[in-house]
Amino acid sequence: MNDPIHLFRPHYRTDEVLSEIRECLERGWTGLGFKTLEIEEAWCRFTGLPHAHFVASATSGLHLALRILGRTDGWRPGDEVITTALTFVSTNHVILHEGLVPVFADVDEHLCLDPSSVAERISARTRAVMFVGVGGNTGRLEEVAALCRERGIRLVLDAAHMAGTRLGGRHVGGEADAAVFSFHAVKNLPTADSGMVCLADPGLDREVRQWSWLGIDRDTYTRTHSQAAYRWMYDVPHVGFKAHGNSVMAAMALVGLRYLEEDNARRREIAGWYDEELAEVAGVATIPVPADCESSRHLYQVLVEDRDRVMVELNRREIYPGVHYRLNTEYPMYRDCRGRVPRAVSAASRVISLPMHLGLDREQVHRVVRALVEVTGP
Ligand SMILES: Cc1ncc(COP(=O)(O)O)c(C=O)c1O
Repeated sequence: MNDPIHLFRPHYRTDEVLSEIRECLERGWTGLGFKTLEIEEAWCRFTGLPHAHFVASATSGLHLALRILGRTDGWRPGDEVITTALTFVSTNHVILHEGLVPVFADVDEHLCLDPSSVAERISARTRAVMFVGVGGNTGRLEEVAALCRERGIRLVLDAAHMAGTRLGGRHVGGEADAAVFSFHAVKNLPTADSGMVCLADPGLDREVRQWSWLGIDRDTYTRTHSQAAYRWMYDVPHVGFKAHGNSVMAAMALVGLRYLEEDNARRREIAGWYDEELAEVAGVATIPVPADCESSRHLYQVLVEDRDRVMVELNRREIYPGVHYRLNTEYPMYRDCRGRVPRAVSAASRVISLPMHLGLDREQVHRVVRALVEVTGP
């Protein structure tokens, strides 16, 4: 009997993580504070992005980004956001939370938004585009960014999968008004739950820090460490959210960030093995990564016919891949949204995410491919 091969398996450097967390406990500061500031600075250094705010999750970061861009630009309920239906529901739920209307554009061969489909969906009420870098792939992000600039539309990059993805040698994120990364447990930089919202504009970066802390103008850490006479005093200019990150998650993220390059290199090596072994396999199509994209390789996706049967057969062989994603239009809140997306419909019925995590070795990748050949073959 073979060992099961799972889609994801988070890898933590336990001793290092515990020692970072111990520092929080010994200093008696586990909330927003010294470690959240440290991870924000470290993330800016790593990515080259000018600002970063550590939040409770990428979902919170996406929500904050839309709220702040919308308030700044004066968006009205019913304004439109062009988005993809082939994503985790976080991307689209935040559009609904803000009273905005998701309009679906189709995907391309990278499973990311197709710029020509985005262009077709632009209307007088379009305010933003949500681009998802599926699996770490940049797809045609630069074309979509250029289109947004030309048309005066905001670009939000759902970079949940893109920690460590580079485009043309630079870390992704700078193309967008807001880029939001996930440090959820199964992502490339795993904590338990946290994320980073990176706003291009310095004023909006200052705002997001209030919005993630209930709209309060000075956080508790700054006030506690201030010498001011009225350090207990604060104002509340907005009805904000409780969405900032905490120092325990930041401690985990700081350790993850130290190893992100090394871990992503390993993921790319695993992806290379899949590429090599699948090159000759008829009936299993791989997803191309553009030449100038150094993908984080959060996912390794393929397209097969008769996907649901293939999944059952792989499971029978103790291989447990995933599906990213069910088309969001299959969920009741998106059923009646505008935008025909035939390519996304077809991909959603055929896509499989093969096991991709740091514990995989070449033999296991070989076993996955052999099983795929067996179950997709004539
Ligand atoms: C494409 C995409 N966007 C957003 C999210 C939300 O991330 P988080 O779990 O950090 O809120 C995820 C998480 O799986 C995701 O896959």
